[in-house]
Amino acid sequence: MELASVRAVVTGGASGLGRATAARLAGAGARIAILDRPASPGADVAKSLGDAAVFTPADVSSADEVAAALDTARGRLGAINVLVNCAGIGTAMKTLGKSGPAKLEEFTRVINVNLIGTFNCIRLAATHMAQNAPSRDGERGVVINTASVAAFDGQIGQAAYSASKGGIVGMTLPVARDLAELGVRVVTIAPGIFETPLLGTLPEPVRASLAKQVPFPQRLGQPDEYAALACHIITNVMLNGETIRLDGAIRMAPR
Ligand SMILES: NC(=O)c1ccc[n+]([C@@H]2O[C@H](COP(=O)([O-])OP(=O)(O)OC[C@H]3O[C@@H](n4cnc5c(N)ncnc54)[C@H](O)[C@@H]3O)[C@@H](O)[C@H]2O)c1
Repeated sequence: MELASVRAVVTGGASGLGRATAARLAGAGARIAILDRPASPGADVAKSLGDAAVFTPADVSSADEVAAALDTARGRLGAINVLVNCAGIGTAMKTLGKSGPAKLEEFTRVINVNLIGTFNCIRLAATHMAQNAPSRDGERGVVINTASVAAFDGQIGQAAYSASKGGIVGMTLPVARDLAELGVRVVTIAPGIFETPLLGTLPEPVRASLAKQVPFPQRLGQPDEYAALACHIITNVMLNGETIRLDGAIRMAPR
């Protein structure tokens, strides 16, 4: 798919990796709906992208809110042919900590947003993509998910986060198979450590120590490097049903 013809919904588009992806797509002539929490700066981010972007507030884990946001997005953009799932949250909790067993509600909260929220957006976006006219390749849409290297080498305290991201990796192939007959591709990116507002809150020594763990290049990833891969995935019709690590060869240590 050519970037100029992209009509994308970017979840988590108000910050970090999603924001960088929305900006890069807008720069390539695409139009974007930023789907993020109502309390996020999504409206300001959309405004900063001029006519290219609109803000469609929703919680990714809500069936009704996402359905309404996608209807609005389709109305404003004319179609939806790309979904980039970047909305996500983290948590740190040991399975059995000093104050007792991990809180089940916390585990559920992370699975709800990261895993169920991702699937919720895919299933609802697919109903819109199914109505697109196919390209010469028979393509009607592209879905990009965001897992994490924690899906493979989760650290101490990351049971919930790793399980949510491992679930995204696990569903990549079956969802690609489900949507193949529509000409909709599904690819997941598993980022290493990226310099987003989330990480920006860490003290410099901690950031430097994280960067040192990356074999090469020995630094944190830039959000635009994620955005560049997302754009490549959109344009390369042979990429499908796969998870791509984007991590400078880091393999996370237990802590
Ligand atoms: N930054 C990293 O190093 C890194 C590494 C691996 C994976 N990831 C993943 O990349 C994605 C983006 O992370 P980021 O670093 O850009 O984080 P971020 O906090 O900068 O951005 C995440 C965005 O998701 C939104 N969001 C959270 N919960 C939501 C909900 N329920 N409904 C709608 N929107 C919601 C937030 O409002 C925010 O705008 C996440 O899924 C994260 O797990 C990040």
